[in-house]
Amino acid sequence: MKHISIAACLFVAACEGEPDGPIAYEDMDFAQRHAFMSEVVLPQMKEAFVRFDARFESMSCATCHGDGASDGSYAMPSPQIPRLPATEEAFFEYIEDPEHARWAQFMSDEVWPDMAELLGAPVYDPKTAPDGFSCSNCHMVEGQR
Ligand code: HEC
Ligand code: HEC
Repeated sequence: MKHISIAACLFVAACEGEPDGPIAYEDMDFAQRHAFMSEVVLPQMKEAFVRFDARFESMSCATCHGDGASDGSYAMPSPQIPRLPATEEAFFEYIEDPEHARWAQFMSDEVWPDMAELLGAPVYDPKTAPDGFSCSNCHMVEGQR
């Protein structure tokens, strides 16, 4: 019996016992989001971050959530991640600065689209998805409170 249920898990994708398959992030309650972050988001994001820089071997919930990971709120965006410039002009200047360019590339090639996909959210686009997932779902911008 045991290996039948394991096989079922492989094919149903969500082993949480949902008859209709995996639940969309949007429809998850807080506990389900917490579990999804632990089981899927952190391991997957950690792989990408470690490929970028080995120091992320110690990546944790706090890498993204900052103090929200210790106070249990997990509120995003996080004030502990470096802030991004608030105007478009300053933003483009910032990401082209050699000090940030490598980071910005990694963020826009991998972190941003992969996180949007994990959350089942459209990627931000000023025309087609103005409420889509963007840098500012994780990063605060300068002056933001
Ligand atoms: C790569 C960055 C990243 C990592 C690592 C990460 N999270 Fe998240 N988490 C997010 C983002 C982004 C959201 C918010 C999505 C949104 O905009 O609604 C979120 C949302 C959540 C929420 C839902 C909050 C709410 O109010 O609904 C919980 C709970 C959560 N994370 C827990 C965790 C836990 C626990 C870990 C570690 C096991 C973790 N997260 C690791 C990025 C991350
Ligand atoms: C899922 C969350 C998430 C998203 C989306 C995201 N970032 Fe990040 N970003 C992070 C985290 C976490 C760090 C900091 C890691 C560390 O050093 O601890 C970071 C660091 C950076 C840094 C390095 C800052 C510095 O001063 O060292 C830059 C630059 C950056 N992000 C730009 C961007 C841009 C541009 C976008 C959108 C294209 C973006 N990020 C989207 C989570 C995110």
